[in-house]
Amino acid sequence: MNDGDANRAAQDRGRKFGPLGTALVIIPTFNEAENIKSIVGRVRKAVPEAHVLVADDNSPDGTGKLADELAATDDHVQVLHRKGKEGLGAAYLAGFHWGMEHGYGVLVEMDADGSHQPEELPRLLTALKGADLVLGSRWVPGGRVVNWPRSREMISRGGSLYSRLALDLPLRDITGGYRAFRRETLEGLGLDEVASQGYCFQVDLARRAVKAGYHVVEVPITFVERELGDSKMSRDILVEALWRVTAWGVGERVGKIAGRTGTQEKPQSSPSPSAPSPQQPS
Ligand code: GDD
Ligand code: MN
Repeated sequence: MNDGDANRAAQDRGRKFGPLGTALVIIPTFNEAENIKSIVGRVRKAVPEAHVLVADDNSPDGTGKLADELAATDDHVQVLHRKGKEGLGAAYLAGFHWGMEHGYGVLVEMDADGSHQPEELPRLLTALKGADLVLGSRWVPGGRVVNWPRSREMISRGGSLYSRLALDLPLRDITGGYRAFRRETLEGLGLDEVASQGYCFQVDLARRAVKAGYHVVEVPITFVERELGDSKMSRDILVEALWRVTAWGVGERVGKIAGRTGTQEKPQSSPSPSAPSPQQPS
């Protein structure tokens, strides 16, 4: 543990975290007709007090219509219909804004295909009582992946390792998409500047949270590969992740060097206005 980490840990021990408020589980969908009913039902059973928002990008397979049917009979289920496929990041941003406008205290990210088990959500929410952001993590002790081909595991592990090193982040699963945010955390991340579209959206949010000084906790999860429907992973998504993470890493290093040599007016290390105040109840 370096000095910065030790200081952070000491600060976190003295922090008080406010009550959580109602949780909104945001489920982005694109062609998840085979999965939507099951996943919404499982969330409702696992955490009955939570609400669900399906953020559908006008799926050609009719997922949005099926979600509407669920919403018609359950006042804890809502649907955000978006005009077309714009990527995971845009769907989550729209879902976060919707949730914050409607007063939710906790915003949860969850895939529609069953990879993120709703039955594990209570553990994430319990951890969030003492954190600003909880990451469901495949790559911490106790975490694992079921039914992934070796090639996919290598891509995911490699992506997290590369992000960890390039961005100097003290996290193991940086690309994962099973997360619980306090609303105050999202408010402090500068969401208006987020442009990442695919899976690197997850790296972007994790990096912003760490840099803003939030307390980020990883909780082990068992990620179960989908049995129905297709992954939306594509070459374009990987290429976007690679170039963005590399550009962020280079940008941070250049900023640090410029700060040290006094060529920047404002050093990068100046406290961010969005950094949480450790003693403030949130
Ligand atoms: N609205 C919307 N728009 N939803 C989308 C889009 C989109 O353009 N692209 C994907 N989704 C939805 C899917 O329908 C699914 O619910 C979720 O996002 C994840 O998509 P998958 O295609 O199942 O992702 P994966 O299994 O390949 O990827 C997993 O690993 C990634 C890397 O670790 C997920 O856990 C990702 O969240 C994670 O980043
Ligand atoms: Mn999946």
